[in-house]
Amino acid sequence: MSLGSDGGGGAAAAARSREGSPGKDGFAPSALGTREHWDAVYQRELQTFQEYGDAGEIWFGEESMNRLIRWMEKQKIPLDASILDIGTGNGVFLVELAKFGFSNITGIDYSPSAIQLSGSIIEREGLSNIKLKVEDFLNLSTKLSGFHICIDKGTFDAISLNPDNAIEKRKQYVKSLSRALKIKGFFLITSCNWTKEELLNEFSEEFELCEELPTPKFSFGGRSGNSVAALVFQK
Ligand SMILES: C[S@@+](CC[C@H](N)C(=O)[O-])C[C@H]1O[C@@H](n2cnc3c(N)ncnc32)[C@H](O)[C@@H]1O
Repeated sequence: MSLGSDGGGGAAAAARSREGSPGKDGFAPSALGTREHWDAVYQRELQTFQEYGDAGEIWFGEESMNRLIRWMEKQKIPLDASILDIGTGNGVFLVELAKFGFSNITGIDYSPSAIQLSGSIIEREGLSNIKLKVEDFLNLSTKLSGFHICIDKGTFDAISLNPDNAIEKRKQYVKSLSRALKIKGFFLITSCNWTKEELLNEFSEEFELCEELPTPKFSFGGRSGNSVAALVFQK
């Protein structure tokens, strides 16, 4: 499963697909929405990392990380701001944040193999002050609260494809996010499943849209649009 750049890719097409047997909200449930899928993905990636030192897939590509860091730099987010990466995967974004200078970073993922892989990559980079935790964001421990910034790159997309009541899971996501973020905290989401309007619909009851970050546009059959949406909300 890969999504190498903002321009799209196999997973983008699969994740975006509303064909097949769509659920009530129009998305066809998919293995991409299950813990078993991600655990198997990161078990493979962990093995590849151990054998070849390859950190694996960066969802939405390098530019998706640079875009978020540029935004934080422009907003003068203090380097000691507490940052939570929701569904960190291989944790490469945590590494980029630490290399930029952020010092209070936490990555969570419900896949133990993802957290093991993140830990190995972080160790190789010689970074020691990043917190990692196996944690289901939909069943968040009360200790994970009061964050200044929450980041989601592809995790809400994955949750939206859960075969088991995705609508309820999305509602739970918004509740968990509200608990995790402090008042006036920022939520930065990058999604290939949802348009800006759809994301507004999901989040605007509890969060206010601050900014849409520019992402590459595609044009096809006389229509143009963005293959990826990147939005900043504030609580
Ligand atoms: C598309 S991948 C993106 C990984 C990473 N954010 C990146 O940009 O490379 C989705 C990630 O979300 C994680 N995930 C999905 N549902 C989750 C949940 N309920 N709680 C925590 N992590 C979850 C998966 O294990 C996977 O690592």
